[in-house]
Amino acid sequence: MAVTGCVCHDISFDELKQIARESKSSFDELSKKTNCCTGCGMCEPYVRLMLRTGQTSFEALPPHEAEHVITEAASADS
Ligand code: FES
Repeated sequence: MAVTGCVCHDISFDELKQIARESKSSFDELSKKTNCCTGCGMCEPYVRLMLRTGQTSFEALPPHEAEHVITEAASADS
């Protein structure tokens, strides 16, 4: 089953991509604006990948890969 959006806040990665593009938002700004990634947090690695690659539909990542995406993004931000 493909991962295509933030389930907690019922917003697709396609919608998030459009909002990010129009507002030129960073991950933090996009999260503040839409509340994405502020519920269970499971969508965070996908939203970060979407911002980086433009991809909006993903195979589910194994937990260690999802963690790696977040860790990598955090170190890039600092
Ligand atoms: S799926 Fe996005 S916060 Fe839960």
